[in-house]
Amino acid sequence: MSRTTEQLIADRARLMGPNVATFYDDPVHIVKGEGVWLWDAEGRKYLDCYNNVPHVGHCNPHVIEAICAQTATLNTHTRYLHDGILDYIEKLTATTAAALDTAILTCTGSEANDIALRMAEAVTGKRGIVATDATYHGNTALVSQLGKNNVPAVGFGLEQYFRFVEAPDSYRTPDPDGTRFARAVAEQIAAHEEAGTGFAALVVCPYFLNEGFPDHPDGWLKPVAEVVRRAGGLLICDEVQSGFGRTGTHFWAHDKMGVTPDVLTMGKPMANGHPVGGLVANSDIVRAFREGYRYFNTFGGNPVSCAAAAAVLDEIASQDLVTNARKVGAHARARLEALAAKYEVIGDVRGSGLIFGAEMVLDRATKEPASAFTDQVINAMRHRGILHSKLGRHRNTLKIRPPMPFSIENADLLFDTLDEVLSETPVTA
Ligand SMILES: Cc1ncc(COP(=O)(O)O)c(C=O)c1O
Repeated sequence: MSRTTEQLIADRARLMGPNVATFYDDPVHIVKGEGVWLWDAEGRKYLDCYNNVPHVGHCNPHVIEAICAQTATLNTHTRYLHDGILDYIEKLTATTAAALDTAILTCTGSEANDIALRMAEAVTGKRGIVATDATYHGNTALVSQLGKNNVPAVGFGLEQYFRFVEAPDSYRTPDPDGTRFARAVAEQIAAHEEAGTGFAALVVCPYFLNEGFPDHPDGWLKPVAEVVRRAGGLLICDEVQSGFGRTGTHFWAHDKMGVTPDVLTMGKPMANGHPVGGLVANSDIVRAFREGYRYFNTFGGNPVSCAAAAAVLDEIASQDLVTNARKVGAHARARLEALAAKYEVIGDVRGSGLIFGAEMVLDRATKEPASAFTDQVINAMRHRGILHSKLGRHRNTLKIRPPMPFSIENADLLFDTLDEVLSETPVTA
């Protein structure tokens, strides 16, 4: 069945519920992808500057081949012996510090974070979790409590286990050495202790991607990691977005930020769109978790998922995609800075590697967010064939996070188009 755009919108509401979000005022009906490109049902081509799940490019031939070959041979689960899962975990843990030597594979980042929180309970005997107030770590009953903005009115009465600190914001409340953030976390740890909940873990994305990727110098998380360790809790780094070389300088953003987490969680880019998530931790922590919780995941770590995920690691290495992210990211940042010199509405330019963007403000002195304008820009870019989005506490930061084979030529097309859009879009509140 081939529906028109209007029929698709109406049928989505009828079949999926009336409040399922789409991107853009005029939603895009994508039917094909290749590398950094997408095509809609009318054959129009779009440059994908947003999707981090197709990490090694849409429809990457090596990942497809790996999935097809393994699907044609066998797909079972982790209760049978199989080389695939072990080969993959060996490859994955070769990218992490020696202490992070054991993995649990899941199907989503949410599940990985859910396990990480329960690991913290199993290890510390406490349940108090600290996170930032503008984050997102997933959708299970437990992790959907994280990020104040996302806490639903209902929620299984788990609120007492979660405390929040203000998300770091290098533009509005600079904290160049991370000590302000560390103090704020220490306060919430003390509040957990005082309330009798105790402190189990701090969970953060080390590059704070959902919070608007504040510009922090390398090593910025060291002070907070000390606070967490001194309090006897676990440091959980959620690298669902920031991992696998995204920042261009390091394979893992926690290394960039100068810390080794107790639990490293991951997902999205892991298998290029095949649903794979997971976590890596020290075997002592994994053992404590498995003693406390009986855990089995029917699909997590199946041979096809492992083949897809292994192909992604191979592609990152063989195409030198981390170096590409570093080079293209540096070029992109320079181009964004040039635009900031031309357009007053760009208040701040941020990013590292292939996560970059700019914060839009109505007034550089007051830093009043230009949220509605940002929306107009994103929609105008979509109409010119460039797909990206926005994020941050004020929803006024351009979020540009393309597949890793994104080139300098692709970046130039993006910024030439952004220049046109900025010159034509009136700045309104
Ligand atoms: C930082 C972070 N953690 C976890 C998740 C949840 O991952 P999933 O949707 O695979 O459950 C997301 C999803 O957007 C995320 O951005």
